[in-house]
Amino acid sequence: MERERIVVLSGAGVSAESGLRTFRSDSATGGGALWEEYRVEDVATPGAWERDPALVLRFYDQRRAQVLAARPNAAHLAIAALERAHHVDVVTQNIDDLHERAGSTRVLHLHGEVLKARSTADPHIVLPIAGPSLRLGDLCPRGAQLRPHIVWFGEPVPLIRDAEELIARADRLIIVGTSLQVYPAAGAVNALRPGRPAHVIDPEDVPYHPPGVEHIRQTAGAGMPALAARLLGKAQ
Ligand code: OAD
Repeated sequence: MERERIVVLSGAGVSAESGLRTFRSDSATGGGALWEEYRVEDVATPGAWERDPALVLRFYDQRRAQVLAARPNAAHLAIAALERAHHVDVVTQNIDDLHERAGSTRVLHLHGEVLKARSTADPHIVLPIAGPSLRLGDLCPRGAQLRPHIVWFGEPVPLIRDAEELIARADRLIIVGTSLQVYPAAGAVNALRPGRPAHVIDPEDVPYHPPGVEHIRQTAGAGMPALAARLLGKAQ
């Protein structure tokens, strides 16, 4: 079987069965969607950070605690298993580390990582967060306040070009658990060369309908292992 370059574009739905809430639609977790409980402009924008940094830090402390308590599910594991036979790049909008913990070795985090902090003086200074919380007064080595290493609404997405280049070089694209509502991440799918196979794994409709795309209307935990088995050449 030929070794393919596969890009997996993932979103919150891939982590739903690990107990992490999605942003827009009610998920298998039963916890309700995050953006139904919080207003984006209160917790996930540069303006929110200016107005009430303590609230922003509390919001991401909660997200971090939930990520640390969660475990990779069958979908993360199946994506990692694809590396046995293929060259796989994961482009994720998720801020959790479940792809890495499942064993994926090339993971690009378009929207940042909740387990890391970044200097407000120099975006290149990125540090792991040691304790359960990031606090006002936690400083980078240059003496500036640390902020969550998250791409907020209204901020540029520094890795979007890298993601588009990976998708442009891909032989196959797998889109799993993302509503494709947030740009520029959602637009990166258009970099796939015409005629390359694409699959969408999502119980709901997703606005991506090029000719020949396969929509697998299952949860990630069911659909991803089945697709991975197919791509690894095993019987399902
Ligand atoms: P959304 O919450 O917008 O979409 C989640 C998608 O996952 C939907 O299409 C659901 O149908 C699907 N879904 C739910 N449960 C699933 C399951 N068990 N298996 C498979 N699919 C399932 O989340 P994202 O598209 O990731 O950005 O959101 C994109 C960005 O918007 C996030 O990265 C975040 C958010 O605001 C920032 O915070 C910058």
